[in-house]
Amino acid sequence: MMQKRHKTVAVAIALLATPVAHAQSMDVLLNCSTCHVASPDPEATATAGREIYPVLNGQPARYIERQLMAYRQGLRQHRQMEQTALALGEGAGAMARLYAGAPHPDLVFRDPPEDHATALDLVEDGDWSRGLAPCASCHSLDPEDDRARLSPRLHGQPEAYLADQLRAYADGTRSSDPMGRMRAYSERLTPSEISALARYFARWTPDTESAQGESE
Ligand code: HEC
Ligand code: HEC
Repeated sequence: MMQKRHKTVAVAIALLATPVAHAQSMDVLLNCSTCHVASPDPEATATAGREIYPVLNGQPARYIERQLMAYRQGLRQHRQMEQTALALGEGAGAMARLYAGAPHPDLVFRDPPEDHATALDLVEDGDWSRGLAPCASCHSLDPEDDRARLSPRLHGQPEAYLADQLRAYADGTRSSDPMGRMRAYSERLTPSEISALARYFARWTPDTESAQGESE
């Protein structure tokens, strides 16, 4: 009897707590630019400490919209983004177009890491012995080329984010990829290849010199 009452109280607290917590955090979550900087100014990202979040500017609109749907449908697991996507609902298409049309800074490749060659081989040539198509055949080699494609730009995304996504495809917790291609590729990559690839794409950083030149 005692136990049952405890349970009832716990449920009541949970019910009460949920809407309140929602009301507070939803304002923040629906303000996308708190985390996904919409400004093309590289300083805006760096100074705000927001370089841990994926960049949405200039990604294909269809890709962005599909990801929001994937969070809603549980094909991608991330608590904050699941809540955001649910709350956004029908607004996803408009948001996707807004970010797809937002300017993206020019990126330059800096400081080749030690495992650069490992990454570049996979990006440019793949490894057909393991059924790995070159990443660049879909994601492109040139960061400026990705816009028109269905595959997202990887250049300039945060290293930890990219590595997390490859691991999520590999263990199936992310299944938003059409025909399971990214799941199949990621499964075949070794942990050190995943690190090397994430580092390679993250080393493409905004060209601050040309950005300054333009604003002068
Ligand atoms: C509190 C920070 C925060 C806010 C606010 C936020 N996001 Fe996110 N968003 C994230 C994080 C963290 C991820 C990476 C989640 C993961 O690992 O799957 C993400 C991922 C995404 C992705 C997938 C990116 C990709 O490259 O696949 C999209 C699309 C997205 N967010 C759109 C939005 C939109 C639209 C809004 C506003 C309605 C928004 N987000 C608000 C933190 C945020
Ligand atoms: C056959 C085309 C194709 C090839 C080859 C390919 N990808 Fe992808 N990749 C895609 C598509 C399409 C998506 C979007 C899938 C989705 O909606 O989840 C994607 C998504 C990704 C993402 C998630 C990006 C984000 O913003 O969340 C990463 C990381 C990634 N690919 C890395 C790679 C790497 C590394 C390679 C090479 C080993 C590679 N891909 C090869 C088509 C491809």
